[in-house]
Amino acid sequence: MKSFKTMIWNIDFFCNLRCKSCNAWQGKIFFPDELVDRHIEEMKKNGVKIVSLTGGEPTLNRSIESIIKKLKEHHFFTHIATNGTNPYVLRRLFPYLDAATISLDSNIPEEHNEYRGLKIFDTVVKTIKEAKQKVKIVTSNALVTNFNYNKIGEMAEFNNNELGIPMTMCFPDQSAYYFQDFQVSQDMIRTAFNYAYENYNRHVFGNLKTYYKEAVDYIDGRSVTRCKAGENVLYTDYRGKVHPCFTRMEVVMNKGPVWESYDNHCSECFDECFREPSLERPIEEAALLSKIWWYNHVKTRFRRDSARDGGRIQPPLVAE
Ligand SMILES: C[S@@+](CC[C@H](N)C(=O)[O-])C[C@H]1O[C@@H](n2cnc3c(N)ncnc32)[C@H](O)[C@@H]1O
Repeated sequence: MKSFKTMIWNIDFFCNLRCKSCNAWQGKIFFPDELVDRHIEEMKKNGVKIVSLTGGEPTLNRSIESIIKKLKEHHFFTHIATNGTNPYVLRRLFPYLDAATISLDSNIPEEHNEYRGLKIFDTVVKTIKEAKQKVKIVTSNALVTNFNYNKIGEMAEFNNNELGIPMTMCFPDQSAYYFQDFQVSQDMIRTAFNYAYENYNRHVFGNLKTYYKEAVDYIDGRSVTRCKAGENVLYTDYRGKVHPCFTRMEVVMNKGPVWESYDNHCSECFDECFREPSLERPIEEAALLSKIWWYNHVKTRFRRDSARDGGRIQPPLVAE
């Protein structure tokens, strides 16, 4: 069975936050409105089925509502990666979104705020709770960092029990560290991913177990699945050019209506957050999406009913 192609579509180089590992706030460039229709047609012609809108902060692009409506009219599976600080815009997008990933780097408000550069924790938590009511598939996403790497279990519990959502984790791209005071070592990254791998059944995570295992293998220098960026997962920049990923920006694939093929043998990073480019396991991926949907919408209801009925209704076990 063929995996569905995913496009990570970066619609702006602009952000309202000052994250210590990202410089999107330094820019002010938006995806050109006049290229939107052409890009949607191009994606259809080239077999893309899943579109993940990202940035910068994608909700700061004023055309996002019209973009997401168009994507839905063309029957794409739609996803957004957002910092969750713009609930007014997100509320208008929810009806057209199939999935949302909202960044939450710690369960401790001060840590999340300090890393993101603004006091946003309470707003983000509220946004997650609202998204969970309105979008089919919702997870949070934590960038593994120096302050959270050794408490992945605690964070997963907060996500699972307080917010009722699975937690996903994202492998940091070392080349994108712009701030001297932000350091994360390979050992820290290994500790975090290894915890998620070894405790996969203890908490509810939103990545495939294989992703956590391969992240550890990657750090330990063992071989991992060949990267499928440029094949299964593609990246559109805020100027309209399609690349294999955001570390292969010199390669432009959409010079003609049929995109150039890219045979990827690169293993310089392991950092895709929404869909891991190295993985091609459509059945496992479909099972993961059903698990997240079930956890978001059914499990929480069971838990509420269960408390009301004095614990008589037992929730079924979460499928692995
Ligand atoms: C670049 S942001 C774009 C979407 C949105 N602004 C957000 O904060 O979620 C997407 C994800 O990349 C993560 N990220 C930031 N800096 C990163 C880095 N240096 N390496 C890998 N991921 C990073 C963020 O934590 C976030 O979860």
